[in-house]
Amino acid sequence: MSQITRIGVMTSGGDSPGMNAAIRAVVRTSIFCGLDVFGIYRGYEGLIDDQIEQLSSSSVSNIIQRGGTILKTARSKRFMEYTGRLQAYNNLKAHNIDAMVVIGGNGTFTGASLFDMEFDFPIIGLPGTIDNDLYGTDATIGYDTAINTVVEAADKIRDTASSHDRLFFIEVMGRDAGFIALRSGIACGAEFILVPETTTYIDNLARLLKHDWRRSKTSGIVIVAEGDESGGAYEVAAKVKEKVPELDTRVTILGHIQRGGSPSAFDRVLASTLGFISVRGLIQGQRGVMAGIVNKEIVYTPFDNAIKHHKDINKEMLEMSRILAL
Ligand code: F6P
Repeated sequence: MSQITRIGVMTSGGDSPGMNAAIRAVVRTSIFCGLDVFGIYRGYEGLIDDQIEQLSSSSVSNIIQRGGTILKTARSKRFMEYTGRLQAYNNLKAHNIDAMVVIGGNGTFTGASLFDMEFDFPIIGLPGTIDNDLYGTDATIGYDTAINTVVEAADKIRDTASSHDRLFFIEVMGRDAGFIALRSGIACGAEFILVPETTTYIDNLARLLKHDWRRSKTSGIVIVAEGDESGGAYEVAAKVKEKVPELDTRVTILGHIQRGGSPSAFDRVLASTLGFISVRGLIQGQRGVMAGIVNKEIVYTPFDNAIKHHKDINKEMLEMSRILAL
């Protein structure tokens, strides 16, 4: 058994629906295990600024259904500097906190990994990002809710697209990964899905759209991941319009609406499970790892693998989406 008696918990990076459910699970599991638990506000920023306070079971009442994060979040430039990390370490020591659960994505785990190496400090990460771009978990906390948000919006856009015989380009989040685009695109029956993982040939896209319209279509949806190398939705729409001027095109950028809202049941269960096992993992001596679920099994993946090991999208599903939209 480890000597851990006081745990800190924080959310960091872009928020995602389900972070609150994860915080609740960490807090209540810690208290059940006889540990004191401390909320660190605004991620690494708050750690550097000593925005740390003890949490009780009632601090996390009535939050499982709420989007966002009660601990707030930030992207910290100061934590990238050694002086920032040293200040953070001194604050943790002043509170006698001896382990942390950090909930976030790539940037959060990069910082955590460095911090553990420099200060020998036990940390477990939970995958909290809508992007689903972490290796070592089938789904990240917030991904499912974000997809449902996109699908709800795309269904509404489909109504107006078909009323007006228009082609809509809908931009979804995903700087480096097309997971949101692929899954939401399949779910809303998108005619095309453009993702950063595959090359988009505008000539080909224009030709296929022209063909679809000649054959039978009068309206449609193209989902564009924001990180697609051919540009965002505005750029792609303009290039297509140039080649097929007869199309009546419109663009919708869904933006941060995808990060908010009440988490889906799937995200609440995932976040609760991961929050629970992260505390148990720390007590059992796990550290420097992200907790995830792969094929229904709990898996601990070293931070470096979770960040750098590339989780690829399923290209067959991309092909399938095209066939189903013909
Ligand atoms: O990492 C999550 C994410 O939502 C990305 O998909 C998106 O590109 C980015 O955050 C936006 O970040 P910000 O809220 O800082 O603009």
